[in-house]
Amino acid sequence: AGTGKFFVGGNWKCNGTKESVDKLVSELNSAHLESDVDVVVAPPYLYIDKVKNTLSARVEISSQNSWVGKGGAFTGEISVEQLKDIGCKWVILGHSERRHVIGEDDEFIGKKAAYALSENLKVIACIGEKLEEREAGKTTDVCFRQMKAFADSVPSWDDVVVAYEPVWAIGTGKVATPEQAQEVHAALRDWLKNNVSAEVASKTRIIYGGSVNGSNCSELAKQEDIDGFLVGGASLKGPEFAIIVNSVT
Ligand code: G3P
Repeated sequence: AGTGKFFVGGNWKCNGTKESVDKLVSELNSAHLESDVDVVVAPPYLYIDKVKNTLSARVEISSQNSWVGKGGAFTGEISVEQLKDIGCKWVILGHSERRHVIGEDDEFIGKKAAYALSENLKVIACIGEKLEEREAGKTTDVCFRQMKAFADSVPSWDDVVVAYEPVWAIGTGKVATPEQAQEVHAALRDWLKNNVSAEVASKTRIIYGGSVNGSNCSELAKQEDIDGFLVGGASLKGPEFAIIVNSVT
């Protein structure tokens, strides 16, 4: 891990029922979570209020998406203002499932990030290459292009955490090796240094996501440029998520 405060997010994606959410919240409430780690969970919109009212305030709440501007006549969308009203501090933007399943592009995601930040919602900015892009030697081209779209839109990186999630590692059980992840994280930090500033490069947390679990997290956490994790499947199990939160120590 680097010098920034370790950050672990749990992205629950489109999973859960009232019953399973209650169980997960009670597991998290009774788990030991190291105090020097920022811990955030992103429940489905429908359960955010329930989680906010039952989960220990030690864990902050994120949404998994937000609308690109002020709320209004946008059927089916959820606005940043509403997310703040309900107690969210964070939003995940640019997740690969939004990019590649739903079809959000770099520019739209950049606009969402700018709007969320302008309303003081912090951003978990996701980037990552697909398998064919990695195999074609385009990993950094793709990641840098996605970084640039964020950099072109956000006024400041103070409230941004970058999540590197190689698409081939998401939900597949094929975690990136610590060396593969470290290599991209170091390249991203370098990109920030060359294209934003040395200060932003050293301060911005770059977290890894993609098949992180209780068994592979500590080796990844040892890498110099891995400042935490964005966890999908394993965040649905309270005790395992706690192991990942505590992996930096
Ligand atoms: O946002 C987290 C994510 O995409 C990783 O999912 O299930 O591979 O941990 P998973």
